[in-house]
Amino acid sequence: MSDEKGPLEATPFQRILQGRRSIRRFLPAPVEPEKLRACLEAARLAPSAHNVQPWRFMVVDDPDLKSRLAAAAFGGFYKGSLFAAQAPVILVLLARPGRGVVRLGSRIQGVPFFLLDMGIAGEHLVLQAEELGLATCWMGWFNYRRVRKALDIPPGFKLVALMPLGYAEKRPRSQPPRRTLEGIAAFNKVPPE
Ligand SMILES: Cc1cc2nc3c(=O)[nH]c(=O)nc-3n(C[C@H](O)[C@H](O)[C@H](O)COP(=O)(O)O)c2cc1C
Repeated sequence: MSDEKGPLEATPFQRILQGRRSIRRFLPAPVEPEKLRACLEAARLAPSAHNVQPWRFMVVDDPDLKSRLAAAAFGGFYKGSLFAAQAPVILVLLARPGRGVVRLGSRIQGVPFFLLDMGIAGEHLVLQAEELGLATCWMGWFNYRRVRKALDIPPGFKLVALMPLGYAEKRPRSQPPRRTLEGIAAFNKVPPE
């Protein structure tokens, strides 16, 4: 977008949005505890339906446990996801879906609110990581059943995603293509399919 004074300069937040990439090559360098804490804190501040805050984060940084997690998650069919094991930390995104009014609301509305909440909190974390120079990748392509077993996740928790966290060894320069603004948003009419 531009005005008569020429294009607006990107704000710091816009630069974070524009610079973020899903990273698939990590350095072994550890994540500083205060940076990890800041990422989790960013997730903690996220909004959620009825303020249920369904998110729980299992921080896997113990090398033995991380190896067991990787072996369970990224075996066979899922071996393309093995890059995540290089990261010094793998976050396991778990949810405690709401009960009572929020569960009923979800059912009536036909929208699983707790998954929306998880996406928002996860992306808060991702953007905070980006600001701190860290790298992440949302991951849904792994063996859910085996991860549950390897980490002994109790039935009351929904396993939502994995997220490697660390420093990028290599950052892709170009962003995977995005739809145009006109392709995703429309004033006063339904956007294109
Ligand atoms: C819910 C979700 C699940 C994803 N699962 C994976 C995955 O299993 N493996 C992977 O390499 N990338 C995964 N991604 C990353 C996407 O491929 C990536 O966000 C998309 O291609 C756009 O690239 P960018 O994030 O670099 O802009 C996932 C992203 C999301 C939001």
